[in-house]
Amino acid sequence: MAEVVLVTGGASGIGAAVARRFARQGAKVVIADVNLAGDAVAAEIGGLFVPTDVSRLAENEAAVAAAREAFGRLDIVHLNAGTGNGGTELDLDKYRRIMAVNVDGTMFGIKAAVQGGARSIVVTASLAGISPTPFDPVYAASKHAIIGLVRSLTIPDVTLNAVCPGFIDTPMIAGAREILREHGLAVADPDEVAVAVEQAVRGGQTNQAWEVQAGRPPAVVEFPTVELSRV
Ligand SMILES: NC(=O)c1ccc[n+]([C@@H]2O[C@H](COP(=O)([O-])OP(=O)(O)OC[C@H]3O[C@@H](n4cnc5c(N)ncnc54)[C@H](O)[C@@H]3O)[C@@H](O)[C@H]2O)c1
Repeated sequence: MAEVVLVTGGASGIGAAVARRFARQGAKVVIADVNLAGDAVAAEIGGLFVPTDVSRLAENEAAVAAAREAFGRLDIVHLNAGTGNGGTELDLDKYRRIMAVNVDGTMFGIKAAVQGGARSIVVTASLAGISPTPFDPVYAASKHAIIGLVRSLTIPDVTLNAVCPGFIDTPMIAGAREILREHGLAVADPDEVAVAVEQAVRGGQTNQAWEVQAGRPPAVVEFPTVELSRV
């Protein structure tokens, strides 16, 4: 029976690459995105597009219900929708928007995916969730938050992992390409992230974060172990 995969933010960039990768393997793919271009990606891969704002719990639940209604089940969920450009000037509107999409969207997406019977969930975090990111501190805070959630949350019979991409060639970094080139920083193809997402799903492990950088194989991030003080 074909796997059923739901990808948030699947209209563009990394999410579209993941949607196409699973579709090539015979999966039925549901794209949930605010960007209506998701309709064309879904049509191309024989999938379903569900207009979805991930910052609203009910819309996450509706996307999961649509997947189950169309394809009878739900196996894999890639919670990939995200946004940045928070700037450095302590703008509370930008803070709320980024937290709503990146953190609420992940929490609501996990909740809906589990209720819908998914057995594997992968979240797109970022290297900004592991390292300081002075050009976008609120984005960094949101991505640190979801890595903390992924590493800490145990869900019976469900694997939960994160991918942490470096710079990836998508519309999100369109305005930064020249600066990256000037600094000699490599930019990876979205397909390299799709490979890591699949590895996280197929590996069967949980609570892991995978680093994805240009030209390197995906690698599980080794976090420091903290010894607790004892009485
Ligand atoms: N491109 C990079 O260098 C890079 C690096 C690390 C992490 N990421 C993360 O990768 C993920 C995908 O980004 P991308 O690089 O493919 O950029 P992208 O702009 O191509 O795709 C992001 C998608 O998320 C969707 N989206 C935004 N807000 C949404 C909402 N409220 N509800 C539903 N969908 C929403 C957008 O419409 C878009 O289709 C994001 O979480 C981003 O933070 C990107």
